[in-house]
Amino acid sequence: MQEVTDLEFMRVLHGYGNPDLYFTEYFRVHAHSRPDRYILRSIIENPTGRPIVAQMIGDDIDRLVANAEELQRYPVAGIDLNLGCPAPCVCSKNSGGGLLRNPAKVDAILSALRSCVHVAFTVKTRIGFESPDEFDRLIDIFGQHEIDLLSVHGRTVAERYNTAIHYDKIRLAVQRLPCPVLANGNVVSLRTALLTLKQTGAAGLMIGRGAIRHPWIFAHLRHYFEHGTELPAPDLRDLRGYIELLYRETRNEEATTLQHITRMKRYLNFIAPGLGADERFLYEIRRVREEAEFFAICDRHLKEGAAVPAEPPPESVFAGLAGLDSVA
Ligand SMILES: Cc1cc2nc3c(=O)[nH]c(=O)nc-3n(C[C@H](O)[C@H](O)[C@H](O)COP(=O)(O)O)c2cc1C
Repeated sequence: MQEVTDLEFMRVLHGYGNPDLYFTEYFRVHAHSRPDRYILRSIIENPTGRPIVAQMIGDDIDRLVANAEELQRYPVAGIDLNLGCPAPCVCSKNSGGGLLRNPAKVDAILSALRSCVHVAFTVKTRIGFESPDEFDRLIDIFGQHEIDLLSVHGRTVAERYNTAIHYDKIRLAVQRLPCPVLANGNVVSLRTALLTLKQTGAAGLMIGRGAIRHPWIFAHLRHYFEHGTELPAPDLRDLRGYIELLYRETRNEEATTLQHITRMKRYLNFIAPGLGADERFLYEIRRVREEAEFFAICDRHLKEGAAVPAEPPPESVFAGLAGLDSVA
């Protein structure tokens, strides 16, 4: 995830229990681009012992091919094409989710990349630009290019991050494609993981914001799948320890304290919802400017032995969780 799940974050996550597979933040590909050195570090210095797939975003076929060839000189398990980013500045250039408006172009890009990618060739997609009805045609196209893995974020680009997940559309991809499909969107807990697998029949899960909020999630899911029992929930002091580790590990000597705290707020945006009465923790963190005050706020709100809530509140950045209870 852009500016969030970098090498330092991977190092922290590794300590709490890895996913089976990592994807890099996307490499922006345009007329004169070379793979970004900062993102390359997460491949070259990958500390996790797990395979990593390099993700690219762009619409220039020749440049995508050139970048894919260059990225394959590094120890990547795969090359992934992003067809999901909903940011207006990306979509307006017909990249990321914007490409879904032009299925013929998607077809041409997949064809060119399939010919030059000799590691796994994978795609991350949303289910359409405006309407979920667009997904049928996209699945046809994905099926024509022998992709090795498809990750489906079960929303359209227009739905951004705020709606329920269209599990039926992910299931359609599972049923129609020969490659494994990863279901993505709103997996934040064991309950939501099991519900997503049941609703979609997917081969696995891709977890984004839920991994930032709850880095224990991979260890907890793995334990459940292997033993059929649940690990105890971490408590607020464990969470305080995670935040402090994140603070120390992501500290870059070149950044000022204020810049670093701004970076921490990007993580806390996903960690803090639901903690403290009336969202007081998030409210205070958003206003902090000094390191001592940052940790004083953590101490005030995260000192008790109470368990971290199993799921974040739906009236937060995890808005799409609303309505999940009505899914059988
Ligand atoms: C801040 C942020 C950055 C993201 N960056 C990327 C990215 O670089 N590549 C990508 O495929 N998805 C990216 N995503 C989308 C997530 O991978 C994921 O599809 C989406 O958040 C839904 O899954 P979740 O509910 O597990 O977070 C990003 C999402 C957020 C919130």
